[in-house]
Amino acid sequence: CYTPELIHQFDVSDKCVVIIDILRATSCMVAGLGSGVKSVTPVATVEECEALGKEGYVMAGERGGEKLPQFQIGNSPFDYMLPELKGKAIAATTTNGTRAIELSKEAPDVIIGAFLNLSATVKYLLTQERDILLFCAGWKGKYNLEDSLFAGAICDGVKKQATFESDAVTSAFYLYESMQTDLHYYISRSNHANRLSKFGIMKDIDYCSKTDEFDIVPRLIDGKLVV
Ligand code: MLT
Repeated sequence: CYTPELIHQFDVSDKCVVIIDILRATSCMVAGLGSGVKSVTPVATVEECEALGKEGYVMAGERGGEKLPQFQIGNSPFDYMLPELKGKAIAATTTNGTRAIELSKEAPDVIIGAFLNLSATVKYLLTQERDILLFCAGWKGKYNLEDSLFAGAICDGVKKQATFESDAVTSAFYLYESMQTDLHYYISRSNHANRLSKFGIMKDIDYCSKTDEFDIVPRLIDGKLVV
C-alpha cells in the first residue's frame, strides 16, 4: 500500500502490517525505542498528544516537517535518542506516519520498519505466518520514493520465502534492486528530503539512510509501540 489514501483497498484484519515512514517517523521510533525509550504512543491529532502530555508523556511530533512549539521534541531521530528520554513514555503525532499506524489498528500485528532496523524486520517477517502488508506512509496521500525503496528492501530480504502478490510489490522490489548500491544518494534526492533540507536538517536524512543501527522490532501492543 503506497499511501494511506489506498488503505481501503486492503483488508488488514488478518495481516502483519509493516508501517514505513523512512523520513522520518518510523526511523525516529526505531531510534528512540532502540536507545531506551520505554514506549511510543502514536496518535493522529495534536489534541490527543496534548492530552497525553498532561498525563506525563513526552510530547513529540511535527506538522509539515516542523516541530510543534508546545511539544518537548520534534520528529528527529536525534531528539528521540536524547539520553534524558531513556525509560520515558513518548506520545507522538506526525503528518503521515502516525496516521498510517492509526489506519492499521484493526490488524493483529503492526510493526515498525526503517532502514535503521532492516535486518531485524526481515528476520521477524521470515518467521511470520500471516500475509504481510507493507504500508508506506507517503506524503499527504502521495507516493514517495524513500518508503517505496524500503518496501523493496523488505521484498529483497524475504524473496526466497514470499510470493509477491501484486505489481506494486514487484515494482518496489525492482526499485530497490536498482538503487540499493547507494541508498543515501537516492533518499537524499527524494521530495521529502528536499523539503527537510530547507529546515537545515540534512543530518536527519543521513541518519535515516543508515542500515541496521538497531536490532529491534517495535510492535504495537495496546496502542503503544514497544520493543
Ligand atoms: C511524517 O509522519 O509525515 C513525517 O515523519 C514527517 C517528518 O517529520 O519528516
